[in-house]
Amino acid sequence: MRNLLPATEENIRRAAAIVKGGGVVAFPTETVYGLGADALNPKAVARIFEIKGRPRFDPLIVHVADLEDVGRLVKDVPEGARTLMERFWPGPLTLVLPKREIVPPITTAGLPTVAIRMPAHPVALKLIRYAGTPVAAPSANPFGYVSPTTARQVAETLGDRVDMILDAGKTPIGVESTIIMFSGGEVYLLRPGGLPVEEIERVLGRKVKPYRGKGVPAPGTLKKHYSPRTRVVILRDWGDYYRLRARYGRVLLVLPRPVHGIEGDVRSLSGTGDPKEVAANLFSTLYEADRLGYDVIAVMPVPEEGLGRAIMNRLRKAAAE
Ligand code: TXA
Ligand code: MG
Repeated sequence: MRNLLPATEENIRRAAAIVKGGGVVAFPTETVYGLGADALNPKAVARIFEIKGRPRFDPLIVHVADLEDVGRLVKDVPEGARTLMERFWPGPLTLVLPKREIVPPITTAGLPTVAIRMPAHPVALKLIRYAGTPVAAPSANPFGYVSPTTARQVAETLGDRVDMILDAGKTPIGVESTIIMFSGGEVYLLRPGGLPVEEIERVLGRKVKPYRGKGVPAPGTLKKHYSPRTRVVILRDWGDYYRLRARYGRVLLVLPRPVHGIEGDVRSLSGTGDPKEVAANLFSTLYEADRLGYDVIAVMPVPEEGLGRAIMNRLRKAAAE
């Protein structure tokens, strides 16, 4: 792949020049690889939608490198949002806030709000700073498919449709950012992600509500999403696993931690069941199952707390019919 390059200082500068010139580059963040373009350039943003095959009603996250950039993009930052930015940025937290005129409608899918985050990855921060503009970036995968955690996964699915892919190895967190919306004095969770909602609640000293508004405020919340081609089944017990094995030829068993004496092809996402490791290895294992041509991916669930919420959210979407 000619466009897959190591994220050296020189290549980050080249990528930034591409973004400035209206191009599209894939780059690492601490969560997953993003597909970035100048968030304020409607034509550049349109290319992101084209490359991903993403419907225009699905808004993008705008990435910034400095807190001062936020004021240009949003009208008003509620105190709670300011607190979260100071505490958790750079990091896997996206905040949805009322947008200013400067953010073009295509970036926010016509919504009056914009989703913003400051990624905790040196390559992403440099790219944004060198480009001198906020960078709109969805995950760098075809729409509906699994988000990439390596540059190679980006190259294999999007290939030369992208102007450049910056390779900085595996992304450390492995699931997308947590998305929080401040609206009408309330705080809503739009998507569980790399920052556990419990930590957000602790810092705010209040509950974060699940969003139950009308319509789909966060289309990433569509029921089926993050899906490999291979069918995903979440196991209720070992009986489920043995029934799948009796029914299908090739089953890949995916476990949060190693279990002794299990037959078949097994991947343990962590040596100890540590949710951080499970999250970091989850998407790569789904890519691998597709590459190796399994019939079914059978996954043992993890407890739904902390990072486990994001893990189970992604698994349920991957398993949705
Ligand atoms: O970790 C991440 O967030 C990664 C990296 C690249 O930063 N990005 C990512 O972007 O996951 P994407 O496009 O896959 O998810 C963006 C989601 C949208 O699908 C939508 O659910 C939500 O963010 N979103 C964006 N703008 C919004 C808005 N104005 N109101 C509500 N939700 C919004
Ligand atoms: Mg995505």
